[in-house]
Amino acid sequence: MAEVIIAQNQEQASSIAAEHIAQKIVNKPDFVLGLATGSTPLALYKQLTQIIQERQIDVSHVQGFALDEYVGLPKDHPESYFSVIRKEVVDPMGLNPDLIHTPSGDFGTVETAGEYYETQIKIAGGVDLQILGVGQDGHIGFNEPGSSLASRTRIKTLTQKTRQDNARFFDSIDQVPHHCVTQGIGTILEARHLVLLAFGETKADAIAGCVEGSISSSNPASALQLHPHATVLLDQAAASKLQHKDYYQYAFENKPSWQGI
Ligand code: F6R
Repeated sequence: MAEVIIAQNQEQASSIAAEHIAQKIVNKPDFVLGLATGSTPLALYKQLTQIIQERQIDVSHVQGFALDEYVGLPKDHPESYFSVIRKEVVDPMGLNPDLIHTPSGDFGTVETAGEYYETQIKIAGGVDLQILGVGQDGHIGFNEPGSSLASRTRIKTLTQKTRQDNARFFDSIDQVPHHCVTQGIGTILEARHLVLLAFGETKADAIAGCVEGSISSSNPASALQLHPHATVLLDQAAASKLQHKDYYQYAFENKPSWQGI
């Protein structure tokens, strides 16, 4: 089972993740960080940036792999995940842009982008820690419900719901691409540590399914139950539909301090 940590709020949950990642980078300067986009990890990125700057942590060797990228947006479009990661992660943290990757199909066609990306991840030595958000429908990366739990990086069609959810980043839904290249669920499960964050009531059903529901491709986030080291960091609202909420809280409060996440 994933470790479930129910924080007071997004700031506290993000700070637990940021502290952990900062320490990992200190211990392993060429740490391979799996990056999510969307609103969920933004507070984590801000806090990690602050820690890196305050403690002057050397991040020049940190490698990064985005979970996904839209198909059809030029790289320099402000909403391409390449641009978003540049703006929210690479520039503020001072990472080396040459070591940060998005599955953009730069080298070849969109059909070969998945295979190429998988090779890049392998060459980097695999992802040490994958940051994840979750869609209201349970998607992780852009693996929409129905995605094989063994899937690899490939092109996917976004659901209308995901396009509507993401329309807030664009002028209108018509500008939201229909397709993306996303790491597969099988790819994500190979990261050594999964850290999924979710905040707000709109994520409560997806989280209940992820943590306590049956493992099923109908709820891609439930694949976390197959991973030997997964951490789910929530605020009170996202945790509100968990049946064993009190136990998770109790376990966290009584956790030996040496254990970390
Ligand atoms: C983004 C991604 C998606 C988002 C999910 C939640 O790289 O992989 O799975 O994490 O759509 O989005 P937000 O955080 O905006 O609610």
